Amino acid sequence: MRTSRDSGLRNVLLIALGGAALLANATRFSATPAPVAAVSEQEGLAAFETVRAVLQHPRCQNCHIPGDAPLQFDEGRPHAQNVLRGPDGKGAPGFACGTCHFTANPPASWGPHMPPGAPNWHLPPPQTKMVFIGVSSGELCRTLKDEKANGGKDLAALLEHVSHDKLVLWGWSPGVGRDPVSPPHAEFAAKFKVWVDAGAPCPR
Ligand code: HEC
Ligand code: HEC
Repeated sequence: MRTSRDSGLRNVLLIALGGAALLANATRFSATPAPVAAVSEQEGLAAFETVRAVLQHPRCQNCHIPGDAPLQFDEGRPHAQNVLRGPDGKGAPGFACGTCHFTANPPASWGPHMPPGAPNWHLPPPQTKMVFIGVSSGELCRTLKDEKANGGKDLAALLEHVSHDKLVLWGWSPGVGRDPVSPPHAEFAAKFKVWVDAGAPCPR
């Protein structure tokens, strides 16, 4: 009798202690994750303005063209030598971009007017031109995130693209005689993320 009552008490005590421990844990764990910073639509739209300015910088828009010849220089002249997009964006058959554009810029000592370089230098294919030129901020925003227009990239893939793609990064080291994109790449990537975190809102 006595032993069983003792062990009964002990069990109650153990259960109570266990409960307290669980409670303590539960409080600790529920307090751990930082509250998800909700990014407002307004902040997202403001961040998109920086994104827009970068996309429409000459270093970027010279490849993101409505026509079929890439553009050159800040004023966007049609590419010399009658260079064309071709069936896959890599140039007309027999006249590939890679004939002149290598995987890196030539040495600075070669001076200006050399073909710039980055891995896989080419234009988007004719079916999905990804046009950044001559479109309003709202249109640019909607095409940017339209998976049918951007080669099947969701927001995460887009963020990855603008953060690490070699053709994108080239815009900040474009070779002798060309102005790099401003603002700095890290700021652009950060603003792109703010826009994505806000749910990728588009200007009207
Ligand atoms: C040499 C040409 C070239 C340059 C320069 C270039 N791009 Fe692109 N871009 C492409 C190609 C080609 C694609 C299609 C995806 C692929 O094949 O990698 C693309 C795709 C993209 C995409 C995804 C498609 C979309 O519209 O949603 C984004 C965003 C983008 N580029 C941003 C930039 C930015 C920002 C710069 C400048 C810092 C830049 N690009 C410079 C050729 C270029
Ligand atoms: C016959 C050689 C040649 C071929 C082929 C060629 N390019 Fe070029 N490209 C050049 C040279 C040279 C320059 C630099 C011009 C200068 O700075 O005076 C240049 C510059 C550019 C620029 C300008 C960058 C800027 O922002 O000013 C872009 C964009 C470009 N080429 C895209 C392409 C694409 C895309 C292809 C293939 C569809 C291609 N090129 C094929 C020689 C070539």
